[in-house]
Amino acid sequence: MSEIKPLHFVVLLGSLRKGSLNRVVAHSLPSLAPEGVTIQQLGSVGDFPHYDADLQAEGMPAAVIAMAEAIAASDGVIIVTPEYNYSVPGALKNALDWLSRTQPQPFAGKPVAIQTASPGAIGGARAQYHLRQILVFFDAHILNKPEVMVGQAMAKIDADAGVISDAGTADFIKTQLAALATLSRRMKKVEVVV
Ligand code: FNR
Repeated sequence: MSEIKPLHFVVLLGSLRKGSLNRVVAHSLPSLAPEGVTIQQLGSVGDFPHYDADLQAEGMPAAVIAMAEAIAASDGVIIVTPEYNYSVPGALKNALDWLSRTQPQPFAGKPVAIQTASPGAIGGARAQYHLRQILVFFDAHILNKPEVMVGQAMAKIDADAGVISDAGTADFIKTQLAALATLSRRMKKVEVVV
């Protein structure tokens, strides 16, 4: 009988809002994970100062180091974020800018899945493609499909109860997490063979 190798994913949340729809998605992920996969939330991107090379020269902020280490130790990252003005929220971009300056850069070679939720019709699709562009420079391995873009999210996510109320949405997210697990395991196999 073959044994499933356990995987550990971490979640990077792009919203700071307490009542965030994306926060509900992020916190639902552990219960939607496939067998053998654990999922843990990273710290808040709100704990990072504005990126400033002079500040960096004084030493990497502790919150940046902690997040970089947690990402580096993981088997994959799930970025869950709103779309702001057709792009990535500033707080998330700021966090990515800091993380890109840590050595070793923790996203290099890391499997990454993206999820966005929005009250709008197309669910944050434009932010996803800006995020993909940023992550190319990080040399991350971004999962192509399925793409989780939760449109009209007010009808699918109950922010008061803190749950994804639409079963179809929850099931679709499950399929993406399973695909990320497959990508992560496939990449480990390649590492072993090469
Ligand atoms: C938004 N919102 C938004 N929605 C969208 O689908 N496309 C967009 O370009 C934008 N732009 C935008 C800019 C700014 C500054 C704000 C504050 C909001 C709406 C956004 O999707 C909505 O507020 C979500 O509820 C934000 O996500 P959280 O915080 O609920 O996770």
